Amino acid sequence: MTKYYDLAKGNKEIAIKKAGNIIKTGGLVLFPTETVYGIGADGLNEEAVKKIFIAKGRAQDNPLILHVSDKNMIEKVAKNITNIEKDIIDKFMPGPLTIILKKRKIVPDIVSAGLDTVGIRMPEEEIARNLIKEAKTPLAAPSANISGKPSGTNIKDIFNELNNKVDIILDNGPTKIGVESTVIRVIKGKIHILRPGKITKEDFENLNYKVIIDKHILNKFTEEQKVLSPGVKYKHYAPNSKCILIYSKNNNKIVKATKEISKKYKNPLILCTEKNKDNYKNPLIMGETLEEISKNIFTILRKVDNYNPDIVIIEGVKSEGLGLAIMNRLIRACSYNYIEPK
Ligand code: TXA
Ligand code: MG
Repeated sequence: MTKYYDLAKGNKEIAIKKAGNIIKTGGLVLFPTETVYGIGADGLNEEAVKKIFIAKGRAQDNPLILHVSDKNMIEKVAKNITNIEKDIIDKFMPGPLTIILKKRKIVPDIVSAGLDTVGIRMPEEEIARNLIKEAKTPLAAPSANISGKPSGTNIKDIFNELNNKVDIILDNGPTKIGVESTVIRVIKGKIHILRPGKITKEDFENLNYKVIIDKHILNKFTEEQKVLSPGVKYKHYAPNSKCILIYSKNNNKIVKATKEISKKYKNPLILCTEKNKDNYKNPLIMGETLEEISKNIFTILRKVDNYNPDIVIIEGVKSEGLGLAIMNRLIRACSYNYIEPK
């Protein structure tokens, strides 16, 4: 039986203490971070981490991120940290960032999926950091969702999917950011963005770092390619219904193409930005700003199938700043079915 704690109502400290004990004894805790909810286990306990893969139905070759509460914990699990990596850690952690570092032996192979590296993240969300402190161990934690589904940003969205698969649920309401952390790796002094998030290419460039956007962020992975991040190989975020993503620099062209495509179907569903909502019949509104869209997007993608649409038409956004992270999730939700009307 899963124990559920509503942190807005009950005593937070007691709930976190109980959750910490569950982690220490090899159990699973569904907990909030500032990006999405995570399914956490003791990251140094192989048997505990195995339970995460089973609960999610996750491929064994897709590594997990280790969540730490402070810099000392990073030193315990990662080695050969370069000055530039140290600098990035100082500037962006705690925060919605994951940095790939060389791993120490203490990290079980199951966490890193056999790679010699490990993803490290120090969440900004205090409940997450307090849970790690209480458990006295780094937490291996993927996003809280069954593999392939959109990540959980609200317990309501994932309760049925994960209830009885974890020991404790810590419900802290909707998460602040929505899209998962930016995943980076430093290679030859340059920052490679492997998964875009709230910390953007522009944020790094403003501090004079050289940044390379991994080619898989907006392009489909093909079998022959070597990937820097195994997660890009797997289907993710996609509703059961067929989806198409539309973007143009010219907003009128987005609206025109969306209307034209929708006419060809009996039961189309349109996901649009606030400014375009009056152009369509009963659309789902993603939000006005990029921040709002980022926060809402996974909840909305999870709703789509309830409408039983024969097509889902999604308006894209400009792939800049946080927009790159949104477009990365949307293009994958649409299985790379993307058009730019001319
Ligand atoms: O915001 C987040 O990062 C959330 C919260 C819970 O912290 N976590 C999350 O974890 O999104 P997950 O497992 O759903 O996504 C982790 C991504 C995957 O695409 C995985 O392939 C990649 O990070 N990754 C993990 N370790 C890696 C490594 N050693 N090398 C390359 N990529 C790695
Ligand atoms: Mg995930």
